[in-house]
Formats: sequence, structure tokens, C-alpha cells
Amino acid sequence: MFDLENHPTSRSLGSRYPIFGLSHNLDVVAAICNAGGIGIWAAARLLPEEIVEQSRMLRESVGDKPFGINLMLPTKVPPVQDRAAVEVGIPEEHKAFVARLYAKYGVPDDGLIGERNRIVRSDELFDDQIEAALQSSANLFAMAVGSRPSVPDRARAAGMRLVALVGSPRHVPSALGLEPDFLVAQGYDAGGHTGQVGTFTLVPKIVEMAGEVPVLAAGGIGTGSQIAASLAMGAAGVWLGTVWLGTSEEHLPEALLGKVLRAGCEDTVITRCSSGKPMRQVKTAWAQEWAGEDAPVPLPMPWQDLLVGSLEGAAKRHGIEPLLYTPAGQSVEWVREVTPVAEVMNRLVSETNKAAAVLASATQKAEG
Ligand SMILES: Cc1cc2nc3c(=O)[nH]c(=O)nc-3n(C[C@H](O)[C@H](O)[C@H](O)COP(=O)(O)O)c2cc1C
Repeated sequence: MFDLENHPTSRSLGSRYPIFGLSHNLDVVAAICNAGGIGIWAAARLLPEEIVEQSRMLRESVGDKPFGINLMLPTKVPPVQDRAAVEVGIPEEHKAFVARLYAKYGVPDDGLIGERNRIVRSDELFDDQIEAALQSSANLFAMAVGSRPSVPDRARAAGMRLVALVGSPRHVPSALGLEPDFLVAQGYDAGGHTGQVGTFTLVPKIVEMAGEVPVLAAGGIGTGSQIAASLAMGAAGVWLGTVWLGTSEEHLPEALLGKVLRAGCEDTVITRCSSGKPMRQVKTAWAQEWAGEDAPVPLPMPWQDLLVGSLEGAAKRHGIEPLLYTPAGQSVEWVREVTPVAEVMNRLVSETNKAAAVLASATQKAEG
């Protein structure tokens, strides 16, 4: 019923399966490609020169298998990469709250920056990141949380397929205006920045609106039965983030890995406290502190990134267990042990085949 090995999406891209896997970790992305999926490398927090260098390494690891580059391109960001100028806009109340968190959790203030504030999300940075991504040999250019008008034509001229992530039917008209090769319908269940509509409702709605444009289902998918359900809802493939967190290639720090492995579908929370935009993540003291009565309202992106970046970095470097977190979807339910990416891929494929067989036999019974 669902021939994952001979699917039009994989055939058009040259992968084995129509299973897209997004990760910030180069090893995970390479392993996804080498296991038959389409690895999507999330490069939003990297400097342009890192994008050029690391995408070259990725190409070396995957040969001619297809991979994509993902950038987050929100609008309403400062024009230039000037940390000091942006930091001036951070209220004293917010700085005092962060100082209290350093003290409460005994986080050493080592004066270093973290992943979140090593860049300043700004028009200037985005222009340079786009240029770097276009210089790579990626097969797909995936845009999340916005776009820039010049990207579609330049990506196509560079021979890349264009992918636009949408989290609401409201986003569809402008996303279709980019003439994308794929839309990703990313539901509320998803890890990372997410919207309000559940995957089970969002996917068929976006399929209906997208017309001829293939739609990939994202959000909460961690089993093959959900892949089969996504295909049954009209999706042209699936796009997964959380399931890769438990892979041996990911190498999460021990204390954080324990939280991820123990977390069930009710152990995630949506908060603006990490980036300034609503992000689903594993529920830990990090988000709980910002939900407290004495906590200030998180700032918009990129001010919140700059406010919390050094604290987040120091908590990671010094292993401050209560404050460790990662973006994760409700699909964290299915991250139960550490296994190589290839095993996760094989499990997903065999579960999808089983689910297809169940559907086929149910159809036969109904007809017989
Ligand atoms: C750890 C993690 C990091 C993510 N980072 C990004 C990102 O940088 N850019 C992006 O477009 N989506 C990002 N996402 C969202 C994914 O693209 C995807 O839509 C989502 O993971 C799908 O839901 P799932 O997590 O339940 O599989 C991230 C998700 C996770 C779990």
C-alpha cells in the first residue's frame, strides 16, 4: 500500500525513503542521509564561514546523497550584527532575574558566550548566512520562521529545491508565493518553534490548501504507524526532529540525555524563554523558572537570545543539571534508548510497512 522504497518523493530527490530528518548535529545529518533518509542540517546558529566549511564536510560524508540546509529567517530583527547595540535594549529587570538564576543554581559566570548569543540574529547575519548556504552543495534550502524575497530565485539558480515550513493555515498563501518544491506542515506537537494547530489537523488542511505542492508532515512523529497515517492524510513524506536526539551520533551530555530518555509525551512545554519565540522543549527548571510569578515576560527574538545565551552556555559547560534542556516534541515519548540513526531508520521503515499491512488487511476484510 505504501511503498516507502519506491516513493515519488524519494525518487525525485535520489534518497531511499521519503523520511526527512532535521538536526543541528553534522554527524546525525550525515547518518540520516547514509541510512536512506534526507538529512536536513539546521545551521541557524552558525557563522557564515562555519556554514561554508561544515557543509563541505557534510558533502564529503554523504557522497552524492541528497541533503538540505535549514535557516531561520524571521523578520523584525535588528539590521546589523551589533551585540552591544541590541543588549542596550534589555531591561534591568530581566538582567536581574538572570543574575538570580546564576546565583540560585550556582552557575559559574565564566564570562563566555553560549550558542544562543554567539550570533546576533539580524538582517546582516541572515544575508551572510544565505550567501554561505547558497555556496554549499546542498540539494535543498529549507526556510523556517520567515523568508527573504531574494532566496527562492537564488536557491533555484544554485540548483536547490526550496522547502518552506508552515505552522498554520495562515502561513500558506505567503509560503506558496515562494513557489516552493515542498511545504512542511509542522504541527503543535513538534519540537522547536511551533504553532497552535495539532499535526493531525494541520497536515490534511495544508494538503488541501497546497494543491500540487507536496506537503511533508512534521510534529510528534516517532513511529512508523504515524508515518503511514501521514501518508494516508496526503503527505508526500515526513520530517522528524526529536527522534534523532536519542541517537548515538547525537552525543547529548549524559545529564540531558537522561532527561530526554525519561521524558514522556506530557513532559514537554512551550515557552518563549529560550529564543523569544514559542518553542516546545523538554520541561525542566529552565522553563519552569520563567513561568514563575516573579519572572519577567520573555523578550522578543533576538533580545531573549542575548539575555539568556551566556547563562545557557555556562549551564551546559558546567553541567548544571536542572537548567539543561533541549527542544523536543511530544514524540520524545518514543525516544527510549540510545541507538544509532540507522537503527531508528530501520525501525521507522519496518513499522510503516507493518502499519500498511494492517491497513491492507482491514481493507480486504471490509471488502470481503
Ligand atoms: C532539537 C531540535 C532542534 C530544532 N531546530 C530547528 C531549526 O533550527 N530550524 C527549524 O526549522 N526547525 C527546527 N526544529 C523543528 C524541526 O524542523 C521539526 O519541524 C520538528 O522537530 C518536528 O517535530 P518532532 O520534533 O516531533 O519530530 C528543531 C526540532 C528539534 C527537536
